Amino acid sequence: MYILGIETSCDETAAAVVNGKKELLSNVVFSQLRVHKPYGGVVPEFASRNHLKKINIVISQAVEKAGIKLSDLSAIAVTCTPGLIGSLLIGISTAKALAYALNIPLVGINHLYGHIYANYINDNRKKFPGIALVVSGGHTSLFLCSSHNNFFLLSQTRDDAAGEAFDKVAKIMNLGYPGGPLIEKIAKKGDPDIFKFPSARFKKGNKLDFSFSGLKTAVWYAFNKNRDADKICLQNLAAGFQKSVVDTLVRNTFESAAQYKIKNILLSGGVAANSVLRKAMAEKAKEKGLCLFCPPKGFCTDNAAMIAVAGAYKMRKSLVASRSSLVKSWMGCGL
Ligand code: KG4
Ligand code: ZN
Repeated sequence: MYILGIETSCDETAAAVVNGKKELLSNVVFSQLRVHKPYGGVVPEFASRNHLKKINIVISQAVEKAGIKLSDLSAIAVTCTPGLIGSLLIGISTAKALAYALNIPLVGINHLYGHIYANYINDNRKKFPGIALVVSGGHTSLFLCSSHNNFFLLSQTRDDAAGEAFDKVAKIMNLGYPGGPLIEKIAKKGDPDIFKFPSARFKKGNKLDFSFSGLKTAVWYAFNKNRDADKICLQNLAAGFQKSVVDTLVRNTFESAAQYKIKNILLSGGVAANSVLRKAMAEKAKEKGLCLFCPPKGFCTDNAAMIAVAGAYKMRKSLVASRSSLVKSWMGCGL
């Protein structure tokens, strides 16, 4: 069995192939970073146009690198929500056309579930039941994963996502885009305890919810107060901001694990590539006697390997689109 995964929800055009044992045979990611960098963020219209330019090339490369032909494919898995609508449309239309032409099943994958399945790329160890933290540029969400494809949303951010906060703080500090890796780099030389930033906590409603917009504003005030500050001050600012984000993510994740008496923690999403977060999560897991799973850094940011693997697990439940629904509904992905 060969499953082709396609991911186009934001600014990465990606395709990957896994086999029946869920081993990754190829993984091609075309990043549009160069296109969006001058604008300090993703421009949706440019993103969809560039997906259109690259999608067929990326798919051909993934199939070729896997050492197979298009006709060898047994199924296609595609990100069908959430994401930029124009970007999703390119991936879904391509996947539907291919599935129809090859007469093979199409599986729709929720992008956030895809991130969680990055933990299963070339790693079949049992991880569910688990608490999954998906922390990316668009989302900061905690899921209770009881079993495969049986995920319950426990909490999410009420405003900015953690990755979005990294990107905006980097913009405030004139560091560039995307902000996460740049903040992490300069924070390495900083002292995280010079600037003490708050960690949002809710008294009303869901106490496991996240919020990062107040923190972003606090950094903005601190930055403006220290505008003429030296490099060391900026490093301290970045380190203080990063510490606050990490503390919040660790606290809510482990509180939910305690509340639901769960032993496995799964980390995922672009921000999960952050070394300080990975270290803090690992230390807390050790202290609490829990098991932490983290995808390799390269599989934290958007890719299609996670979509292909998620598709392989979803196929087991036969949650696939029928041939007639491929034609009728524009999503038609069995979600
Ligand atoms: O998962 P992803 O590729 O796209 C979304 O689904 O949103 O995540 C991208 C986000 C960006 O906000 C980026 O700044 C952040 O992940 N990111 C990081 C790091 N690497 C990427 N944030 C903190 N530290 C990093 N090392
Ligand atoms: Zn993502």
